[in-house]
Amino acid sequence: MNQSSSNPKEIFKYYGTPGKDFARFDVNSPLPKEVEPTPRYEAHVGLQVFPTLPLIPPFNCRLFSRLAKRVGFRSMVGPDFRRWMPANLSRLRPDKFSDEYFVERRLNGFNPGKLNHIKDKPWQYAVNYKTGRYQAKPGGFLPEYNEARFVLRDRSLQVHSIEYRWKGRVSTCFPTDGKDWEDAKYYFRSAEYVYQEIQSHLARTHMNMDQYAMAFYRNVSKNPIRDLLWSHFEGLISINKKGASLIIGNTGFIPEASALDPKSVNGVLAEELATLTYHWSPAVQKLPDPIDNNYFDRASLAMWELLEKYVSEFFTTKQKEIKTYWYEIEGMSQDLVTHSILDPGVKSLEIKDQKDLQQLCVYILYHCTFFHSWVNNKQYEDGGDIEYAAIGLWDENSPDYDPKKIQERYDAQVKLMWTLANVYYNPAIEFASHPLKKLLWEYRDQIEPGIPLGWIMMSINI
Ligand SMILES: [Fe+2]
Repeated sequence: MNQSSSNPKEIFKYYGTPGKDFARFDVNSPLPKEVEPTPRYEAHVGLQVFPTLPLIPPFNCRLFSRLAKRVGFRSMVGPDFRRWMPANLSRLRPDKFSDEYFVERRLNGFNPGKLNHIKDKPWQYAVNYKTGRYQAKPGGFLPEYNEARFVLRDRSLQVHSIEYRWKGRVSTCFPTDGKDWEDAKYYFRSAEYVYQEIQSHLARTHMNMDQYAMAFYRNVSKNPIRDLLWSHFEGLISINKKGASLIIGNTGFIPEASALDPKSVNGVLAEELATLTYHWSPAVQKLPDPIDNNYFDRASLAMWELLEKYVSEFFTTKQKEIKTYWYEIEGMSQDLVTHSILDPGVKSLEIKDQKDLQQLCVYILYHCTFFHSWVNNKQYEDGGDIEYAAIGLWDENSPDYDPKKIQERYDAQVKLMWTLANVYYNPAIEFASHPLKKLLWEYRDQIEPGIPLGWIMMSINI
């Protein structure tokens, strides 16, 4: 690795084999200088991480525990930890186990856009998670299949039933089923949590955008889209390099705290990435019926529309220069196509003309700002309360059941959700270009109440 090289293709090297491993920066290479985190960013993260340091490997050693006690964080270590953490959204909701709240979070919680319209059934909508092809760890409880169904009544969704399969046995539960119903909802929320983290958060935002950032950094230096995209990629390569060991590596948070092992986590991640192309818009997943509290669709469509306006204006102004340096876009296109792992039938990442490039820019901006902010910043709302949702469930009757380890996993979950959801580095309404700020402000009534405007960040940096 040659850090002193000025050739971006030597500095930004891909991991693994093109077309086989999903396209991303080689985490074993040093971080290129131009994408190193700023001191201000480090300070933002430090503010959130410091109190919980004694819980993070490799800081969870005796020395750090002693240090934490000495500086006054005695109560932040050990089993009292979760009680001492600030309340998350569900802890502030006395109705957190109600069916109404269950529906509300499927529409507007940390894993939005998953409802599918269903025909010829007693229910009209369903969310479905299929974990069957992945192996649950010994002692882990993760239904092979989990589906929540909803009926539509007067612009309002109501939960109809939940069906799940565990070790080949299918259970269908209804709201009148007492404890079985409450259990079914908890299992569903746990399955949703695993998929929220791997598919929506890591695959769709962090890793999906990594492939675009790589093609961008390696090829674009004079083309005006450098100015358009640069600040929206800030921090991405750096946090993905950290996350490769902290979140998805062999001892990372998801394989440690969930019932999936590292290989399965990577499997879910790669499978999702294989379906993602920039030839997409949120209109694809928009619910066909008007639903009063569907704030996600309203916000996502508004965000897409304002980004289309913003990018179109930019392209009109910079048309000539974009053409002059089109050869850089050809390089970017080639990198994208060569390194993508798309399923057959998914539209290629090739950039054929300015129309494609414009679409690609809107797609990148949408994911780096709005969509990542939604799935990242709402993590503590749903995942900060073990009673409400645990990323891993454990079978008490299994010989592998280890209560101490489970408590540690729960602590790790709440701590990580708190840290990840509270680093508000570069809100777009403060740091975006003037025209983008203007549009965000104009559209604020449609973006809120789905997500507070100030929660939309410039880039994926945590
Ligand atoms: Fe994130």
